[in-house]
Amino acid sequence: MAEPILEVSGLVKHYPLTRGIVFRKQVGAVRAVDGVDFRLGRGETLGIVGESGCGKSTVAKMLVNLERPTAGSIRYKGEDITRLSGKALKAVRRNIQMVFQDPYTSLNPRMTVGDIIGEPYDIHPEVAPKGDRRRRVRELLDVVGLNPEYINRYPHQFSGGQRQRIGIARGLALRPEVIVADEPVSALDVSVQAQVINLMDRLQSEFDLAYVFIAHDLSIVRHISNRVGVMYLGRIVETGTDTEIYEHPTHPYTQALLSAVPVPDPEAREHRERIILSGDVPSPTNIPSGCRFRTRCWKAQERCALEVPALAVPAWFEAAGGPAAHDSACHFAEEKHVVPAEGDGDGPG
Ligand SMILES: Nc1ncnc2c1ncn2[C@@H]1O[C@H](COP(=O)(O)OP(=O)(O)OP(=O)(O)O)[C@@H](O)[C@H]1O
Ligand SMILES: [Mg+2]
Repeated sequence: MAEPILEVSGLVKHYPLTRGIVFRKQVGAVRAVDGVDFRLGRGETLGIVGESGCGKSTVAKMLVNLERPTAGSIRYKGEDITRLSGKALKAVRRNIQMVFQDPYTSLNPRMTVGDIIGEPYDIHPEVAPKGDRRRRVRELLDVVGLNPEYINRYPHQFSGGQRQRIGIARGLALRPEVIVADEPVSALDVSVQAQVINLMDRLQSEFDLAYVFIAHDLSIVRHISNRVGVMYLGRIVETGTDTEIYEHPTHPYTQALLSAVPVPDPEAREHRERIILSGDVPSPTNIPSGCRFRTRCWKAQERCALEVPALAVPAWFEAAGGPAAHDSACHFAEEKHVVPAEGDGDGPG
């Protein structure tokens, strides 16, 4: 892997669960993020995938300091940013920017596009002197494929895809090194999703950006990710290169997620097995003992209720010469042939 720019270790976010209005009493905790580790290389994309409520946005918010972790560290170029405050924190935050999911609600409807994209300069005036801001904003509009003449328009005058371009331009304003994109295309029409992903791909090479790209669906992150982490109930249960995850998934949860991705090729469709998971995702206030996936897993045995499986290269996989960077948190991790999710390079959807 490229030199790490971000290293996350033992990241935890628990929200207290309280009862009573006058005498608030803590009766438990929502374990939204419950021990997440990953490394992000310079200029690389890590895709984070998982069902609703598994803690993806909470991870994203901690990365950009919108939430404080309950425990764990986030190292940016070796320095733990969870321990920084004041000027030092502000300087680091500039380098890690976020692009939000919903371009309809994340842009202030009363502000012009120029003011929205230029707003980060109010917080970091050192990046762009006042007299130079309009020029920079026009340049940013151009970079994301929008007409610089639109600088005085308002968000409602744009389509969903264009609004997300505005969100991306704003994310780029401070020339960050890392962009955390929390489901940047989920709110968009399928036909527009590919355009926005292609734009992000181009910007990545143009500005040497590293992405944490969050999505519900494995098919969306496939083309943009170098590595993928699959999350379940607050933890990463499997991680590896995109090829490893899509073609040789070893965790039952990843196998189930992949089997649900539509396959366009009829012949490939015939050869694959559809795995339907039983039951619902347990509540993050009441996470099962041992392996947190066991209540929905068809492989679960007694051991799974007793021992938490470590996120590591399965022993048999290592012995068989499998890549060391493919970790799976399952006592019974096993490679299974899953037909690749898509045909060749025709974008997501
Ligand atoms: N401020 C909060 N207080 C209490 N619980 C919270 C808070 N924020 C999030 N949660 C809970 O933490 C869990 C993880 O939420 P999060 O938004 O990170 O999930 P997600 O993976 O982003 O889901 P989605 O795919 O729906 O966006 C959920 O159960 C959610 O209800
Ligand atoms: Mg979310």
